[in-house]
Amino acid sequence: MSKAMLLSYDPVQHLLPQPTSHAAPPATIALAPPLLEGGNTLTAALAKRKSVREFAATPLSPQQLSELLWAANGINRPETGGRTAPSAHGLNEIDIYVALPEGVYEYEPVAHRLRLKHAVDARNLTGYQDFVGKAPLDLVYVVNHGRADQMPEAVRETFAGVAAGAISQNVSLYCAVAGLGCVVRGWLNQRLLAEALSLNEDEVPVLAQTVGHPAAEQ
Ligand SMILES: Cc1cc2nc3c(=O)[nH]c(=O)nc-3n(C[C@H](O)[C@H](O)[C@H](O)COP(=O)(O)O)c2cc1C
Repeated sequence: MSKAMLLSYDPVQHLLPQPTSHAAPPATIALAPPLLEGGNTLTAALAKRKSVREFAATPLSPQQLSELLWAANGINRPETGGRTAPSAHGLNEIDIYVALPEGVYEYEPVAHRLRLKHAVDARNLTGYQDFVGKAPLDLVYVVNHGRADQMPEAVRETFAGVAAGAISQNVSLYCAVAGLGCVVRGWLNQRLLAEALSLNEDEVPVLAQTVGHPAAEQ
């Protein structure tokens, strides 16, 4: 990592582990059962999180689409521009493309809006599986390496994968509470998608996620 980037984090003062204050630390620590119902909505969402691969054609409501994208990587701290998903050094190197029947859009978190990239239905290009073109919406996570070019190459891809993973998990948890289904997909044709989305050479599709109403209880 470059010196400038390292200095943007507070350096650790004590690099040695500190002695524990416990005379005899327990070998195992029993954990109370998680509360999966009631007021704790995060554990309730985690209890419902799963991959769904059969979808109804019903579109998401405008409210659901808005909340889905905000949950994915929207601005949750307007004063700093902070996002719902973390990224190394706040580089926000992942862009979200949204393939809808009416076109391919890019999510713009600051304006919280979708900007049309192409008036084509590219859903079926976002993967190889049969549900892909039938579900109402496919998200494509595109890493913009140009935004992370100060990052050493050795960690760039890992960090981008982690950032895309955090975003996709936000989407999965939103879907779980909203009664929607989704599946994150790594099986995609990067070259075909890059063409369909008119990406430049710095931009690489790394992950996709199909979202929709589950066809039936699974
Ligand atoms: C990085 C990654 C890539 C994945 N790629 C695909 C994929 O291309 N197609 C698919 O149907 N599922 C894909 N999955 C979903 C996994 O198959 C699924 O999470 C796993 O079978 C566990 O099932 P669950 O999500 O219902 O717990 C992927 C998951 C991850 C984390």
